Amino acid sequence: MTSTLQQQQQQSSQDEFNLPQTSDMIEDRDLKFISDYLKESDKDALRQHVFKVWSDCITTAHAYRCIKSLSFLYPKIHRHYIYEKEIAQSSAKSSLQFLDLGCCFATDTRQLVRDGVPPSNIVAIDVVPDYWQFGTKLYKDADTLGVESRFGNTISDQSFASDLNNTRDYVWTGLVLHVLTKQDVEGLLRRVYGFLKSGGTYFGTCVGSEVEQVWIPNTSSSPRYLHSDVSLTALLTTLGFKDVKVQSYDSKELQMSLRQQNAAQTQILEWKADGNIQKRILVFSAKK
Ligand SMILES: C[S@@+](CC[C@H](N)C(=O)[O-])C[C@H]1O[C@@H](n2cnc3c(N)ncnc32)[C@H](O)[C@@H]1O
Repeated sequence: MTSTLQQQQQQSSQDEFNLPQTSDMIEDRDLKFISDYLKESDKDALRQHVFKVWSDCITTAHAYRCIKSLSFLYPKIHRHYIYEKEIAQSSAKSSLQFLDLGCCFATDTRQLVRDGVPPSNIVAIDVVPDYWQFGTKLYKDADTLGVESRFGNTISDQSFASDLNNTRDYVWTGLVLHVLTKQDVEGLLRRVYGFLKSGGTYFGTCVGSEVEQVWIPNTSSSPRYLHSDVSLTALLTTLGFKDVKVQSYDSKELQMSLRQQNAAQTQILEWKADGNIQKRILVFSAKK
């Protein structure tokens, strides 16, 4: 274990999360997607499996808040308005090319596959390979998923994945922008623009705030940046994106919408922490 990791874990222990201490704290509803995916109905066996992979992950890799809160058990891409409107029912799904950028465990990638997108049409990218490996352990599909995964820093290494430039109909970043600095958000969005075909669509979600600002999370000493709907719209427009749409929800609205969707308490917790900042969730899309 590196000293950085030890520091992160010490900081994590002071975090305001109630981390699951035992597998019992994983609720049945948390297991819906994985139960369907693995065709496994024994919830206790699943609970133990999830808890084991989760424990291994948070003790060996940097655990983002979404990992600690078991958010990877929930695909989110299919709740985005672009997905509902353009992808879910599209008969062209078999020819559309996707990029899941900042895929982490790649639960959204698996949602795409379950919804009929051919695995060969999807590339999943993350800067940390371990999350992908934990994902394949969780979903037991290392030999069967068939999705190409790539690991590298899309921001600092312009040559990484440059063969994907102008090839993607859709680039998705779920909960990624808020883990970056202001400069890196801009760098990532430039790469997204480059990956898209002309007319292609970028869509995603991130944590934001009422007024754009630097954010130093309790769990990390490195500064990140929270965009507002106004600043993200301006940035995407400046970078050349068209039809920019950024919706902003406050945590109450989000909690209500999550409750309506019967999402777990663990997901709701994610937006409650760091009470000193009025956090929003931004849901956005833009075209090249
Ligand atoms: C908070 S997680 C979100 C994961 C996932 N998309 C989801 O919705 O659950 C952010 C992810 O972005 C990845 N990431 C951060 N910087 C990146 C970069 N420069 N290139 C690719 N991935 C990056 C992190 O490693 C992490 O897996």
